Amino acid sequence: MNILLLGGGGREHALAWKLAQSATCDTLYAAPGNPGIAQHAELVALDPTDHGAVIGFCRSHLIGLVVVGPEAPLVDGIADSLNMAGIPCFGPSCAAAKLEGSKGFTKDLCAAAKIPTAAYVRYHDKEAARAGLAGFGLPVVIKADGLAAGKGVVIADTTAEAEAALDDMFGGSFGVAGEAVVIEEFLTGEEVSLFAITDGTTVIPFGTAQDHKRIGEGDTGPNTGGMGAYSPATVLTPELEARAMDEIVRPTVAAMAARGTPFVGVLFAGLMLTDKGPQLIEYNARFGDPETQVLLPRFTGDLAALMLAAATGKLDDVSSLTFDSNVALTVVLAARGYPAAPSLGGSVLGRLSPTDGTLVFMAGVRATTEGLVASGGRVLAATGTGTSLRAARDNAYAALAEIDFIDGYWRTDIGWRELDRQQL
Ligand code: AMP
Ligand code: GLY
Repeated sequence: MNILLLGGGGREHALAWKLAQSATCDTLYAAPGNPGIAQHAELVALDPTDHGAVIGFCRSHLIGLVVVGPEAPLVDGIADSLNMAGIPCFGPSCAAAKLEGSKGFTKDLCAAAKIPTAAYVRYHDKEAARAGLAGFGLPVVIKADGLAAGKGVVIADTTAEAEAALDDMFGGSFGVAGEAVVIEEFLTGEEVSLFAITDGTTVIPFGTAQDHKRIGEGDTGPNTGGMGAYSPATVLTPELEARAMDEIVRPTVAAMAARGTPFVGVLFAGLMLTDKGPQLIEYNARFGDPETQVLLPRFTGDLAALMLAAATGKLDDVSSLTFDSNVALTVVLAARGYPAAPSLGGSVLGRLSPTDGTLVFMAGVRATTEGLVASGGRVLAATGTGTSLRAARDNAYAALAEIDFIDGYWRTDIGWRELDRQQL
């Protein structure tokens, strides 16, 4: 089977690396790809918003499966167009991608299906939202309803901050994403991510991870797309994982199917482990970046076969998934100034090839006649694997030490919560 992968970041490099190893994968194509992905796939210039062009390419290149990395093409309905053309797509329809695309939609679905999540009210009007603040304690969480590139969440410690966030969101800072706002209760606990593959009916857990969203050491400073992650996240014990699957993930998949909008692909649940048990913070309708860079190095199965089974409603043929017992940890090398104003264009030199226990996944990197240069805020992710978290971490940082990128910045404390727990 030939496969087309859409996307061009570190997550897609990890997907390409793994898909290319599948016995069921003949030729792998990627659009737009990046120089790392080019080691595993033939890059093609395709505009993912031009659905006709994507379908035409799939027909002329006998594509048997399309894998969609990022959320934007999903929310834009690429899976609907491909499904209508009879081309299997790993990724949800536009209606199902609302689990990521609209926070209010997800909260309403949780309320109807009694899925544990923070108490909330959704507002379409600023004055009503300001008045509604009185019904919440402090801190309070204010979220733009739509996609806001991870920036549409404000945790307000004072009413004045909450009002300012409402002014900002209803004032158009997030465009249409801020036309509706969700105000919700602040949850306390440890955050963890749980991944599940589904064909719309059958659901199979696909591992756990914990990421570091803040730019600074000790999880401080502005939010980013993610500065590092490790897997598995043992804070989600097998018992808690089973609870999260039974109380959160499976009821969500069932509710989506009952609405006539089955969710197909990977459901990425951001959970808060509260003293009342796991509660849903948010869903993503795709794999995480950089979580994929730690999940896939541990997955020992045939990824292309699994994704095809999910895309064609045959996941019940897959009995169980196998992960190796190694731990994986990834550290993101960002361009200095990220996330506000990353300094781009600097040369990326050094060892980018894998060694025993390390893998380097390229993200915001572009090939030029002078070599590789930084073209995005997150430049690459160095993953280490090992029999312990400490060994995985040491391998990841050893790989970073061999990369020469003068404009770079990375956190030195990835995995600290778990390392503290293990007193490493
Ligand atoms: P989201 O984009 O919904 O994942 O929110 C971004 C981050 O805000 C999360 O990873 C949490 O750290 C935090 N957050 C979101 N909702 C809540 C909540 N109800 N209580 C506490 N923290 C939250
Ligand atoms: N690392 C978080 C995300 O991919 O959304």
